[in-house]
Amino acid sequence: MQWITLVVLALTASSNALIRFQCSQLVTQRLDPLVNPGLIPSTHVHQIVGGDSFNASMAPTKDMPGESSCTTCQFSEDFSNYWTAVLYFKARNGTYKRVPQLANSGFSGAAGGGMTVYYMQDPLYDTAQKSKVTAFKPGFRMFIGDIQARSLADAARFRQLTYTCLDTFGSRDGESMAFPNRVCKEGIMASLRFPTCWDGKNLDSPDHMSHMSYPETGTFESAGPCPASHPVRTSQVMFEVIWDTKNFNNKADWPTDGSHPFVWSFGDATGYANHADYVFGWKDDSLQNILDTSCYAASCGGKQQSIAEMNKCSQKEIVKEDIDSWLDELPGGFQASYARTPSAKFRR
Ligand SMILES: *[C@@H]1O[C@H](CO)[C@@H](O)[C@H](O)[C@H]1NC(C)=O
Ligand SMILES: *[C@@H]1O[C@H](CO)[C@@H](O)[C@H](O)[C@H]1NC(C)=O
Repeated sequence: MQWITLVVLALTASSNALIRFQCSQLVTQRLDPLVNPGLIPSTHVHQIVGGDSFNASMAPTKDMPGESSCTTCQFSEDFSNYWTAVLYFKARNGTYKRVPQLANSGFSGAAGGGMTVYYMQDPLYDTAQKSKVTAFKPGFRMFIGDIQARSLADAARFRQLTYTCLDTFGSRDGESMAFPNRVCKEGIMASLRFPTCWDGKNLDSPDHMSHMSYPETGTFESAGPCPASHPVRTSQVMFEVIWDTKNFNNKADWPTDGSHPFVWSFGDATGYANHADYVFGWKDDSLQNILDTSCYAASCGGKQQSIAEMNKCSQKEIVKEDIDSWLDELPGGFQASYARTPSAKFRR
């Protein structure tokens, strides 16, 4: 199949390894079953990929593969949901416009751009990917980041939530924790890496984070050991979301004070509040089976579908509102702010 050839070529070129795949957009709307379960609309706009059973409420007992009829992800037994906030551009005249997403290298044609998902046994550039890791269990979910973070100190608690200024589409150097402060010719890539040590017991926790931990010393990349409290080593889940800023790179539209013009859908203009949500939903042992093989990307086997098939899966918005015109305020009532407490009716 032609798309597999493209993926393998892209990987060879950039020497990326491991389970790496694209998911097309499922839906973009104000729902957040993890942080605002049952709230319609949720506080701020998200872009969501994965299984089409995504909903305003998703109990841990929910049968993700059983209730889904399709997935927007390349691995067709992956009915998980993956989501992040949405980026907006704030023009000099004060109005906001949603920034579209772009599919990653090797995945062009993915509807709505979507995002790239990784499950790594070992660091990104270790092509062998030989370590043993445990897949997640049905009902597992997690969150990473802090919606209230507005400083480097706030953001530094999360080691690996970053931005890459895409001077070229293949740029991968110079990750920052704040929004890039210059024009990024080909877009801005957000990279969101989850912690990799599980407590082995809880599928979730009140903050959706404390059942997971970073390694006790070192990092996942340096094979740092997991702490005794969180002894089970999982794969590292990472999202890459490419924000297509090309239509917003004219500095004549940027703020006159030299600040950059991008803002998260909940008002964060610093970029430090980068965050991501994950609800596990792979069918049966399909993820563990792949993790138990030394492989990468399309060569990892499992059941896979083409981009055209991924694109057939989507969801209608439950929340009917305009998120795409030039808007006077961000959906949910937020304004761009560098301050820790956003100016909106913020609920968490
Ligand atoms: C979402 O939940 C509602 C209420 O329980 C239900 O009627 C609807 O079918 C669900 N949608 C999907 C896509 O599962
Ligand atoms: C605000 O600026 C944007 C970008 O220049 C422009 O497209 C839009 O029409 C402007 N809106 C108003 C109300 O002037």
